[in-house]
Amino acid sequence: MSEVIAIEGGNKLNGTVVISGAKNATVALIPAIVLADSPVTVYGVPNISDVDALGVLLKELNCKVEKNEDILVVDPTNLENIPLVGEAVDKLRASYYFMGALLGKCKKVTMKMPGGCFLGPRPIDLHIKGFEALGAKVDYSNDGTYTIEAKRLVGNKIYLDFASVGATINILLAAVKAEGKTTIENAAKEPEIIDVVNLLTKMGAKIRGAGTDTITIEGVEKLNGCNHEIIPDRIEAGTFLIIAAAAGEKVIVQNIIPQHLEALISKLKEMGIQMDVVGDSIVVYGREGDLKPVNIKTQIYPGFATDLQQPLTTLLTQASGDSHVKETIYIERFKHCPQLNKMGAHIDLKEAESIIHGATQLHGTRVEATDLRCGAALVVAGLIAQGRTEITNVYHIDRGYENIDHKLISLGAVITRRQVED
Ligand code: EPZ
Repeated sequence: MSEVIAIEGGNKLNGTVVISGAKNATVALIPAIVLADSPVTVYGVPNISDVDALGVLLKELNCKVEKNEDILVVDPTNLENIPLVGEAVDKLRASYYFMGALLGKCKKVTMKMPGGCFLGPRPIDLHIKGFEALGAKVDYSNDGTYTIEAKRLVGNKIYLDFASVGATINILLAAVKAEGKTTIENAAKEPEIIDVVNLLTKMGAKIRGAGTDTITIEGVEKLNGCNHEIIPDRIEAGTFLIIAAAAGEKVIVQNIIPQHLEALISKLKEMGIQMDVVGDSIVVYGREGDLKPVNIKTQIYPGFATDLQQPLTTLLTQASGDSHVKETIYIERFKHCPQLNKMGAHIDLKEAESIIHGATQLHGTRVEATDLRCGAALVVAGLIAQGRTEITNVYHIDRGYENIDHKLISLGAVITRRQVED
């Protein structure tokens, strides 16, 4: 069985939507908890399937896990470092944060290569390079299992060839209890990294420079339990700003950190969208007439987020003229374009680039969510298309958006969800 979301397009949206905790911080914070020797409580945990999958892995490691709405309490006191080779690892790429966390805590980890969205090649060579620099031996067996082990973990200077979010976080997790000083150069600067560092610092880690391209870590002997509140999800927030721009009359997007969305806000204003930033909310006013085309080039933070180019592509189909989207992070992240073309968009694809010829009237039909943010792009399309849009493989969307249909229904969208035979 799988689920299909059906959207009747054309309704104008009004009201307030509250953004949940950041998925891409949460999926790193949860594995980081195993580094503590006592219980950790995390507030603002989003109700998404990636969190469920990580909970299964924590229980496999004999951690006590209690979740009550958006509060997660994890007790890693009796951690058992067993090989992580079950199907829960396949549910999300971020399972690999258990590599850094278990290596950092136990000096050994065995786990299979994780799964996640297909966005083109997604190697973990920079993660492995970091572990080896700290003194770990990395074996990869042909059944796809990594065994990573170190007699001692000793701080080192590590230069990342690419400012990889995952590698920066995984190396941090492995280094916080290593002997001596570790420096990560050309580190990623995403807000989710700062959130993970805030948790580790509360545990007793000694880390400086998070949010800059050079992070230093002084290894410590012991890390303790603590309390932590997750930052709001800037990608969910950005998705709802795009939804409001596409289908809203007056929509308030609440619980955001505007600074995390500067690149998107600037592009939406360039397109002619009227917005007011009011504290931790942004008010988006409905578009009058066609929008102006813009050119997007995805970059590492604080540049334009690759995760938002897919939903923004849908809005660009409503701009009068040609818009260009250039991907520099995931060069194959364009599987949403053929699906949008099925709905009447006119998008051409080139090497790591899409050209959106607008404005085009979209019409409802059956489309497939091929990955998480493709799903988001199709939800935006369904909301503005004429007629009914059916989106299959909704599990992709549920990985990263908490109750997206309920949040949209509360804004006035006409959405239903149903089970279908595979
Ligand atoms: C994180 O993925 C996010 N996922 C992605 O969000 C996001 O798109 C990406 O960062 C970029 O911002 C999580 O945080 C769970 P990277 P990550 O390591 O860590 C190459 C979503 O939709 N690379 O910064 O995997 C890689 O191939 C997801 O929420 C190497 O070559 O991203 C890619 O081209 C999708 N070797 C680029 O770096 C490595 O060892 C970006 O990867 C690691 C990465």
